[in-house]
Amino acid sequence: MNVLMIAPGYPDEMPLFCRALSAHGATVHGISDVPQSQLPALAKHHLSAYLQTPSLADEDAVVEAVRRAWRHIPFDRVVCLWEPGVVLAAKLRVALGVEGLAVEDAVCFRNKDLMKARVAAAGIRCPRHRAATTVAGVMEAAEFVGYPCIVKPIAGAGSMDTFRADDAAGLETALKKMAHIEEVNVEEFIDGEEFTYDTICVDDRILYFNIGFYRPRPLIARSTEWISPQTLCLRDVDSEWVRGGRAMGEAVIPVMKPGTAFTHMEWYRKSDGEVVFGEIAARPPGARTVDLMNYVSDIDLFMGYAEAELTGRFTTPVERKYTAINIFKRAQGQGRIHSIRGLDHLGERYGEHIVHVDLLPVGATRRDWILTLISDGYVTVRHPDFDEACRIADAVGTDLQLYAG
Ligand SMILES: Nc1ncnc2c1ncn2[C@@H]1O[C@H](COP(=O)(O)OP(=O)(O)O)[C@@H](O)[C@H]1O
Ligand SMILES: [Mg+2]
Repeated sequence: MNVLMIAPGYPDEMPLFCRALSAHGATVHGISDVPQSQLPALAKHHLSAYLQTPSLADEDAVVEAVRRAWRHIPFDRVVCLWEPGVVLAAKLRVALGVEGLAVEDAVCFRNKDLMKARVAAAGIRCPRHRAATTVAGVMEAAEFVGYPCIVKPIAGAGSMDTFRADDAAGLETALKKMAHIEEVNVEEFIDGEEFTYDTICVDDRILYFNIGFYRPRPLIARSTEWISPQTLCLRDVDSEWVRGGRAMGEAVIPVMKPGTAFTHMEWYRKSDGEVVFGEIAARPPGARTVDLMNYVSDIDLFMGYAEAELTGRFTTPVERKYTAINIFKRAQGQGRIHSIRGLDHLGERYGEHIVHVDLLPVGATRRDWILTLISDGYVTVRHPDFDEACRIADAVGTDLQLYAG
């Protein structure tokens, strides 16, 4: 099978998907905006051909470049597991005559206002929302949705440029930080816990799903530097706690029509138990969450996804044995990391429950914590018991410290 893969080298997980597609027998043609020499070795190794375009943002130019370079190749699939390329992938499908997520459906996965309009039209509870392109429009939208409200880019990711405003003065302050954003979505603020519902679908049928949980909520974790944010993938997906969100996820998929894809939905649960839709993307969750899902069941969802994409089947047996948690660490101080403390002691205490450690080494320069979800590295823990998994994760949060300066 001939597969066209957008952005095979970025983000970090993409080379693993590239390898899985090739391991399942696909001939993978990659396209992105970096020179072939700069691709990660794993992606390079599993690509049969590569095309560099000046930018992936100019979608019409990319479509034209692909047509010119690979007109003779009968493509079977166009895949994109990277958020900004989802609409481009749909346009390439049209140009190359390949089945899959259509442009009008792909747009709804990217534009948060169209997305919620579609989901709400199906009777699914969404935050009140309105799009705006001017300061006056935002103020008016806030009056409509009520305070507190959230303002965020219409097609954002990773909680970037997202603010909560409690009143008009707070909204004005937020808008000053958002001057570079052309269009925003203004939403009713939903006070609650935050979860995910992730799937691998074939022809809109859910063949695999995961329920994730954020500790604390992403907006708080992404705006408070000392916090070590946690992402959890749950073992128990049948509890009362997540029942409403799971049902919502099952209702959203046929409405959003991802076709054959990895999907990543976020949902809120209020203290009274009400469940509210957050957003959905036609790609896997980032920040090494696919690895986390793998750790729940000791499976390989890179391969599972590739099988679904190429054959329409998903034969990976899914037994949930652990709650798995990624804990992202941010060093104290600026500049280069000069010491890492607490790891040995954690290893002695929790041994086999710490399954992966990927921290920047001593001597490395800290990453910009605002721009990265991975921060200065992360630790993966897992345990059959939810409370115990959380206790170990919290110990990693407090007892493992990186120092820079
Ligand atoms: N309506 C809302 N109510 C409460 N919190 C919100 C709302 N919208 C966004 N947030 C917060 O901001 C974060 C980022 O917003 P989200 O819509 O998930 O965009 P993205 O993840 O694409 O940046 C969410 O995870 C949540 O913590
Ligand atoms: Mg989100």
